[in-house]
Amino acid sequence: MRRAEDLDVRGQTVLVRADLNVPMDNGAITDDRRIRASLPTIRDLLARGAAVVVCAHFGRPKGDDYAARAAGGPSLRPVADRLAELLGQPVTLASDVAGESARVIAETMAAGEVALLENVRFEPAETSKDDGVRGELAARLAALADLYVGDGFGAMHRMHASVYDTPRLLPHAAGQLVLAEVTVLRQLTTSPARPYVVVLGGAKVSDKLAVIGNLVGKADRLLIAGGMAYTFLAAKGHRIGDSIFQADQLGQVTTVLADAAKGGVEVVLPVDHVVADRFAADAQPEVVPGPDIPDGKMGLDIGPATSELFARNLADAKTVFWNGPPGVFEFPAFAAGTRAVAEAISAVTGLTVVGGGDSAAAVRHLNMPPDAFSHISTGGGASLEYLEGRELPGLVALGDAT
Ligand code: 3PG
Ligand code: MG
Repeated sequence: MRRAEDLDVRGQTVLVRADLNVPMDNGAITDDRRIRASLPTIRDLLARGAAVVVCAHFGRPKGDDYAARAAGGPSLRPVADRLAELLGQPVTLASDVAGESARVIAETMAAGEVALLENVRFEPAETSKDDGVRGELAARLAALADLYVGDGFGAMHRMHASVYDTPRLLPHAAGQLVLAEVTVLRQLTTSPARPYVVVLGGAKVSDKLAVIGNLVGKADRLLIAGGMAYTFLAAKGHRIGDSIFQADQLGQVTTVLADAAKGGVEVVLPVDHVVADRFAADAQPEVVPGPDIPDGKMGLDIGPATSELFARNLADAKTVFWNGPPGVFEFPAFAAGTRAVAEAISAVTGLTVVGGGDSAAAVRHLNMPPDAFSHISTGGGASLEYLEGRELPGLVALGDAT
C-alpha cells in the first residue's frame, strides 16, 4: 500500500475517508478515540500544504432516500465540533455529502483548511449492493478532490462507495491509522511470538466461529468466555440453565472443538460462573463453583476460579489477541471477570492487542490506563474479519489484499 505520507500533496485537495463513528449518549460523544486516531493523518496533510475534505459515516440512518435520511439524522455536527476542538482550527461542515454545499466548499478551500462532509450514509448509494449505484456516488465524491487517502480502518470491511469505489477513481494511499492497524494485525497472522493466546468473549458464538476456524493452527490457546461460552459448554454436555445459547450453532461448535483438538490448539472454557436469575444490573449475583449451571439461573460472568485459570494461561503468553468481554461488564456485579482478564492481559510482556467494539468499550469502562495494552484497535468488525483471513474491501481498494 502506498503511504499517504509519500504523496505530494502541496496545493492539492485530499479526500480523507476516516471512521469517525463514535459512541454518543444524549448528543454527547462518550468516547472520541476514533476522532483522535484520525488526527495524525489529517495533521500531516495540512502541515504539508493540502486542503483536507474528510468523509465519514455516522450510525445507520434509516429512510428510502437522501431527504428522509438527512431529516432523521444523525448529523456529523457534534463530530465536526469535536474534530475542530482537537485540531485547534475551524472545521467547516458541509450541509450535504457530495452535493452543492460540498462542491462549493471543496472548490473554495485554501491549503491548510479542513472540511467535513455530512454523514455519507445519508446517501443510500453508499451502502448499495449495486456497483453502478455506488459508482455514481463515488464519482461525485471523487470530483471533490485531487487525491484520496483511506484512513477509516473501522469501516475497511465494508464494500461501500466511499471506502471501496472512490479510491479507484483518484490517486490513492493509506493513512497512518490504517497502516498502524494493519501492521499490528499482520503480526498476529504471520509468525506471532509464542505462546499465542486468543481470548474470545461476547454474546454470540455465531459471530466468532469464522475467526476461531482461522485461528486453529495459528494460536496455541483459545480462552473462551462470555455468552458464547455457554454454547461451547452445552456442546460438551454441560448444563447451562437459562444462559444465552445458540442451539443452531451446536454442530459447528462441535466441529470447531474437534478441529482444535486435531490442530493441537488448547481450548480453555469456564470452570465456574457468576449467575443470576435474570439479566439485570440489580440481579443478585451468585457464584456457581463448577462448570454446570442449575436450571432457573443464567451465567452473566466467569467465576473466580476461571479468572485464575485464564490468568495462568496468559502468564507466559508472548502474543495475545482479545475480542469480546468475558462477562456483562456493564453491570458492576458481573464485571469482575472482565476486569480480571483485562488485568491478566495487561500484565503480559509481549504484543497485546485488543479488538475494537465491545472489548475496547470494556477497557474504557474499566478505566484501564491507556498503555495497558500494546494496541487497542479502532475496528471491531474490521479487525475480526482481518483475523478471519478475509480480504477487506477497503484494503483491497488501496492496493493491499491482506
Ligand atoms: C463500526 O462502528 O463498527 C464501524 O464504524 C462500521 O460501522 P457499521 O458496523 O455500521 O458498518
Ligand atoms: Mg459495527
